[in-house]
Amino acid sequence: MAELLNPRPTPPDDAPRRPRLGVLGAGQLARMDQQAAIALDVDLRLLADGPGDAAVLAGAEALVGDHGDLDVLRAFASGVDVVTFEFEGVDNALLQALVDEGHRLVPAPTAKLFAQDKLHQRRGLGDAGFPVPPFEQARTPDEVAAFAATHGWPVVLKAPRGGYDGRGVGVVDDVEEAAAFLEPLPDGALVEPKVVIEREIAVQVARTSDGRSVAYPVVETVQHEAMLRELVAPAEIPEALAREAVDLAVAIVDHIGATGLVAVELFVTPDGLRINELAMRPHNSGHYSIEGAVTSQFEQHLRAALDWPLGSTALVAPAAVTVNVVGPEDGSDPRSRLRDALAVVGAHVHLYGKGARAGRKLGHVTALGPDVATAKRIAWRAVDILEGRA
Ligand SMILES: Nc1ncnc2c1ncn2[C@@H]1O[C@H](COP(=O)(O)OP(=O)(O)OP(=O)(O)O)[C@@H](O)[C@H]1O
Ligand SMILES: [Mg+2]
Repeated sequence: MAELLNPRPTPPDDAPRRPRLGVLGAGQLARMDQQAAIALDVDLRLLADGPGDAAVLAGAEALVGDHGDLDVLRAFASGVDVVTFEFEGVDNALLQALVDEGHRLVPAPTAKLFAQDKLHQRRGLGDAGFPVPPFEQARTPDEVAAFAATHGWPVVLKAPRGGYDGRGVGVVDDVEEAAAFLEPLPDGALVEPKVVIEREIAVQVARTSDGRSVAYPVVETVQHEAMLRELVAPAEIPEALAREAVDLAVAIVDHIGATGLVAVELFVTPDGLRINELAMRPHNSGHYSIEGAVTSQFEQHLRAALDWPLGSTALVAPAAVTVNVVGPEDGSDPRSRLRDALAVVGAHVHLYGKGARAGRKLGHVTALGPDVATAKRIAWRAVDILEGRA
């Protein structure tokens, strides 16, 4: 039997039965799910890699086991009413096996595949007429060169599966670089032109299994070294474009029948909106919603997964800005500077309990304000302190 960490005490006999929600994964997103689960008195159980996972450290109940092992998944799913996710990298065939055995998954594996496999996503959404960038599957450097002959160098290569925080995405300038990128990918890569990106935006959508959905205001995300660094809510874009982005995101989520929280990442290009990728779980681009929206994306995810009424997605301030706390180059731990950061009035500091390593996402800071510039100033002041620059 797999080890159960932080086992919850047995409730008294007369306690009402609480909904049991399972989350595959126990990192910072599950940790924030847990915060929402406490408020709604949802019994959350996680599948964790081990006792050091961010959500386990925060006290969430967790089964330790390998999510690549069907027996482990089965045992986990049997103990909960609904299985949901905090990451994408679970074998889709195993998920389908759980569904075939009668377990309830949010989202269903057929939808989840659109977030797990970038090639599947491009094909499926492209075929349905949604605006994806031009793309091909490239198995060899020559196929990349053929694509570049039409669209020009550089091109962007992406591992179809398993990438996150920019790992698995490469801008390549020539055939040699393409060969190096393809080397570890026996099934090839997704190749796309290097899109002219005016802005990167994202829309969070929550959808229930009976087809109700709500969308959050459009946010702008700023990436640094392909990792999300700063997010601004609402995105400072024309209202018509924002409406188009929300409509597009809702249409995509409806089309693929996704449930739970979905983040739709979009590029604003000179030719209009283009789809980047989907995440089917709470996402970094929605962290502002904990303090910045009436209902946080984490609470919304629980509500959607349990088919409960969805909450208001309205912002509670004119602007909200989140800046990620990233491990500084000198390896120092932002936690050691928490006291000083807390002196920044209006900065909501979140630390994930992860070991400090250069370049690792260790937390985030959100600030609200009467305008974006003010919120940015507050959030960055706290992050500059945490990362040791101030
Ligand atoms: N076709 C493209 N043209 C130009 N830039 C691109 C293109 N595709 C991706 N990028 C850049 O690379 C970043 C990472 O790409 P993508 O979102 O696919 O990767 P990921 O690692 O799965 O993402 P995440 O950081 O959300 O986990 C994008 O946010 C964007 O800045
Ligand atoms: Mg992305």
